[in-house]
Amino acid sequence: MMPGSTLPSVRGRGAMVRIRKSVIGGRAWVLLWFAAAIGMVVLISAGRGRPAMAVPVAAVEAPRHLGVGSCAGSTCHGRQEATGTVVRQDELMRWQDPASSGGAHSRAWAVLGSPRGLSIAAKLSLGDPRAAADCLGCHADPAAARAPGVRLSDGVGCEACHGGASGWLDSHASTSASHRQNVARGMIALDDPRTRAGLCADCHFGSEARGQFVDHRIMAAGHPRLSFELDLFSTMQQHWNEDADYARRKQRPSATRTWAVGQAVALMRALGTYSSARGTAGAFPEFTFFDCQTCHRRISDAIDYRPSALANPGRPIPPGTPAFQDENMIMLSAAAQVVAPDLAGAFDRDSRAFHAALAIGRPQAVAAAGRLRGTADTLADAFARRPFSRAETLAIVGQVATGAAQRYTDYEGGVQAVMAIDTLLSALVRDGGVSPAAAAGIRGDIDRAYAAVRDANGFRPLEFRAAISRAGAAIRKLA
Ligand code: HEC
Ligand code: HEC
Ligand code: HEC
Ligand code: HEC
Repeated sequence: MMPGSTLPSVRGRGAMVRIRKSVIGGRAWVLLWFAAAIGMVVLISAGRGRPAMAVPVAAVEAPRHLGVGSCAGSTCHGRQEATGTVVRQDELMRWQDPASSGGAHSRAWAVLGSPRGLSIAAKLSLGDPRAAADCLGCHADPAAARAPGVRLSDGVGCEACHGGASGWLDSHASTSASHRQNVARGMIALDDPRTRAGLCADCHFGSEARGQFVDHRIMAAGHPRLSFELDLFSTMQQHWNEDADYARRKQRPSATRTWAVGQAVALMRALGTYSSARGTAGAFPEFTFFDCQTCHRRISDAIDYRPSALANPGRPIPPGTPAFQDENMIMLSAAAQVVAPDLAGAFDRDSRAFHAALAIGRPQAVAAAGRLRGTADTLADAFARRPFSRAETLAIVGQVATGAAQRYTDYEGGVQAVMAIDTLLSALVRDGGVSPAAAAGIRGDIDRAYAAVRDANGFRPLEFRAAISRAGAAIRKLA
């Protein structure tokens, strides 16, 4: 059996983003206030008595992690309402939101002790997963082992993303220090899309670091699949306002750029990790890099059986071989065709060459991965530097929906396509590029595409393509 299908959660993601966008600052937060406040009291009292707060640290010293308690003061990020003048200051409450994805990181350690977490660990004979290095690299602050102030039970705390605060805890609260100065003191520049993508990828794709890799062994023990898209997932855990003040201090966010850079960085991470020692398991390749369903299909040797695998023009591999997960290649190709047409041909050639090399040998595959990674890197830089117009975003959405349809032979590609269309259309609505009424008219088609990726085991590519092509046709009319 496959682990729980991601369909409900993917569908939930779309719905969640829509709900969130309509309630930010509204009543929903008030309703969640009481439950969150209880958790906060616990955190604040835990933070009290910790001497780390005001220790002066030279900028050259490696940043130390001080723990969530040091962010949680009621005059800092622990306010119960977003009344701050520069930043909201209720970030802690949103990080702890018990009822939504926004609070997932505060629960990351606790879920290891859930029945599902315990069952995964039992199948792997890991003992208590809440103390297992194989799990803690992603389900807690990876610096926790070296930082006495960090409590594992705080899960993925503020510093797991923003960086150890020892060098900037004082300066970042004073209005005289610029963002650049805080970054020089060890704060991570999460407004930079490449930096953010690389950080999220450590846990949402995996890395070469200890305890940050979900291999097929962990998957086979029942771990949920890791599926991620930078812009959508950023929105799902958004605890900051991207207002005029934000744009003065930091890089102005663009959903399309975040999405495109996220796709490039994800592919680079997959190829880099595959090329490392993580890429093999004994005499086998590490299966987790390959599309799950290319191995996990129902089979039959009946003479009239029609194989369920479809030919894929982007993937020249012999029939009967597992396929490298290619969803980020499909998305990146769509973006390149619209905004970097001079690189798109080379990118598609390098993608096909990589797939083909996998059927030859590991050294050939690693060499081809290196070339594809280089092209993806060039694309990431090109995307990170340019603005994306309304027309370009619409053209990318159209390309994802229809131009790439022949390549949606597998479940993960379908999931990425729906997430892309959902998050990019939402961004167009938010920026006034598409009217809410026009977006609502396309909703039905997007919902049908979500329905077609409800069940990884029952993914029907032809139905999916029909739904996504209808959405694409409707979107092209908006251009
Ligand atoms: C590479 C990082 C990584 C590692 C290593 C990892 N996980 Fe996870 N885990 C995640 C992510 C990311 C999710 C959320 C998946 C999603 O919803 O997209 C998750 C989800 C889960 C869930 C489901 C949580 C829920 O809300 O239902 C459980 C249980 C879990 N992991 C247990 C484990 C255990 C046990 C280990 C160690 C054997 C482990 N994980 C190792 C990243 C990791
Ligand atoms: C999963 C990663 C992650 C975690 C965990 C996290 N943040 Fe963030 N945070 C971000 C990202 C991404 C941004 C947006 C980029 C930026 O402004 O740096 C952000 C933005 C912010 C901002 C807005 C900055 C501004 O200039 O307007 C504040 C304040 C903040 N976070 C505080 C916190 C606090 C406090 C916690 C812990 C309670 C926390 N964050 C936990 C990722 C995270
Ligand atoms: C140190 C590891 C780590 C880092 C870094 C990290 N995450 Fe996560 N994230 C997790 C784990 C583990 C979960 C699952 C927790 C759970 O199920 O409660 C998760 C869950 C989430 C969820 C909820 C998913 C769902 O299906 O509800 C979102 C959204 C998310 N992360 C976004 C991000 C973004 C955006 C970044 C980068 C700015 C990021 N994360 C960085 C470990 C991490
Ligand atoms: C290259 C082929 C291949 C790929 C790709 C692959 N698996 Fe597997 N999987 C296997 C094999 C072989 C087993 C062991 C089956 C057995 O023990 O009978 C297995 C077992 C499993 C099991 C346990 C099933 C059971 O009933 O014992 C799960 C769950 C699983 N895989 C999930 C995944 C996920 C999720 C992915 C994608 C990230 C994936 N697999 C990709 C070959 C593959």
